[in-house]
Amino acid sequence: MGIITAVVRSHAKVNLTLGVLGVRPDGYHDIESVMQSISLHDRVTLSVGGEPGIRIECDVPGIPTDERNLAHKAAALLLKNREIDAGLDIRIEKRIPAQAGLGGGSSNAAAVLMGLAGLLEMSIGQAELCDLASAVGSDVPFFIVGGIALVGGRGEEVQPLPDIPAQWLVILKPSFGVSTPWAYRRLDEIRGAVSERSTATVRMTKCIQAGDRGAIQGLLSNDLELPAIEQHPEIGELKHALLDAGAVGALMCGSGSAVFGLFSSEQAARGAADLFASPELQVFVGKTTARRDAADIWIVP
Ligand code: C5P
Repeated sequence: MGIITAVVRSHAKVNLTLGVLGVRPDGYHDIESVMQSISLHDRVTLSVGGEPGIRIECDVPGIPTDERNLAHKAAALLLKNREIDAGLDIRIEKRIPAQAGLGGGSSNAAAVLMGLAGLLEMSIGQAELCDLASAVGSDVPFFIVGGIALVGGRGEEVQPLPDIPAQWLVILKPSFGVSTPWAYRRLDEIRGAVSERSTATVRMTKCIQAGDRGAIQGLLSNDLELPAIEQHPEIGELKHALLDAGAVGALMCGSGSAVFGLFSSEQAARGAADLFASPELQVFVGKTTARRDAADIWIVP
């Protein structure tokens, strides 16, 4: 067999809501979240048929390229599961900032699972891919489904929701990051255990199912803002600055440290983004992505 190659667009996500519930017996938290794919993406190229082993190459320094990379974990798991002993080269062209709460590493892992399944013509359904994905990381199953979805459990329960019309957004990533395990732990210390459901997520889900996109901006909510803003007040300041710049709603992404603002048009988003140009911030303009566009795999002929 010669070398065969697939290219996968690996999209980032934002959480439109993120409700953190109680601690589970496995130490993770149950969450209720509405997650949405966005146009910001990395490009993951998979080449099968080279020297034995899994190698990762990334164009951005500081990203681990060994077993710590979720893309490596995903590839090893799928190849072992299918008893395939093939050499694999993974090239990641990184555009999604790390430690931002945008799910970049998880998205790369899902891209590897879907890309390899396509490239090697595996007969593996979405449910089975989601099972493997959840063994790689809590956010990975969402990226197998993509688009907009209601996510529960520790992230492994993914229920697709109907696509919403594209919403423009501006994402601001400060130079510091927030550690996800720390944010969850600190939230428990501040707030104690929570047994109720996430009202924001229930309401958001209903309004998306009803096609009422006008209500989305008023329902944005993220429990992990509490610890993150306590440690980094700048995150709260960036949210206010986005609203001052014309955003109709603003929220921290996942466990931070990036924040996003929703804008009513591309022009409004680009105009606002220009106001934030600074050496301390990475600024991205993008839009929400429909499910069919969120899993784009191209097998190189
Ligand atoms: O699964 P993942 O490696 O992305 O999770 C990173 C950390 O975030 C976990 O070790 C845990 O501390 C925290 N976490 C959690 N509950 C979740 C997801 C993540 O407590 N549902």
